[in-house]
Amino acid sequence: MQEKILITGALGQIGTELTNRLVSLYGKENVIASGLERYDKNMTTAGFYERLDVTNTQLLRQVITEHQITTVYHLASLLSGTSEKQPLFAWKLNLEPLINLCELAKEGLLQKIFWPSSIAVFGKGIPKMNVGQEVVLNPTTVYGISKLAGEKWCEYYFDKYGVDVRSIRYPGLVSWKTPAGGGTTDYAVEIFYEAVENAKYTSFIKEDTAMPMLYMDDAINATLQLMDAPKESLSVRTSYNLGGMSFTPQDLANEIRKEIPEFEIAYEPDFRQAIADSWPASIDDSVAKKDWGLSYEFGIEEMAKDMIKNLRIKLDK
Ligand code: SER
Repeated sequence: MQEKILITGALGQIGTELTNRLVSLYGKENVIASGLERYDKNMTTAGFYERLDVTNTQLLRQVITEHQITTVYHLASLLSGTSEKQPLFAWKLNLEPLINLCELAKEGLLQKIFWPSSIAVFGKGIPKMNVGQEVVLNPTTVYGISKLAGEKWCEYYFDKYGVDVRSIRYPGLVSWKTPAGGGTTDYAVEIFYEAVENAKYTSFIKEDTAMPMLYMDDAINATLQLMDAPKESLSVRTSYNLGGMSFTPQDLANEIRKEIPEFEIAYEPDFRQAIADSWPASIDDSVAKKDWGLSYEFGIEEMAKDMIKNLRIKLDK
């Protein structure tokens, strides 16, 4: 059966790049992008665009039936910083559409769902280093609470109804095509824009706070690998740990200076520092490696070089 793919949040940081990859793999006529914005012909590479508020359950169902969707990459979400400002809306947006999609899959309207979780599920009192797949989860942020609840819903629908919903706990994602929006790890994207444009940056995260991070190319590869894996090989139906690399703002500044020697960094931590303090510094992702062959191509050095090279072109610097 021909896969027909719907991406929610398709104009966001992950959505834009995932859409491009899915179009190259499945052909644009089989990929439907969706988002809140009005249609503009340059906004997506997908063959179709649906203006879709994912909290509109009826419209979500309509889009899925009209296009005969088989697979949904459900990326629409509020990130950690923004969720603290709009907690009730974050809860609604981050949970209800996921549950509705699982219901549609339970009815047989969908074959597969991808849903992103986050390193935000771990939370306070958990060891900082090399945090494993099966640890006590104790999130203290609205975002983390919503992601933990979502993971449990995914597992529930799989256990009870066999719904094939797959998930990754993404670390901070670094990319140059579409800016990040509203997250705690966003400093690791902003720093590159400021470095290329102004050779200086003020970080809202302290110099020595390490967080797990991943370059977008590796994130997209991992996502597609997980979605392609045979069902029987998956032992985790909540969400898979993904570690990527681990670095601090200071490490990143040192890396940037190899390309932009005059780069200067200052530190003015804000409310997002407390969020970062409750998250792990590094993650053990051996289960994903074993179950579906997770691997990475980019370390901090390759990532920094690629970011600066591409942003120089994009920003005409
Ligand atoms: N990048 C996300 C955030 O900072 C983590 O999942 O909110």
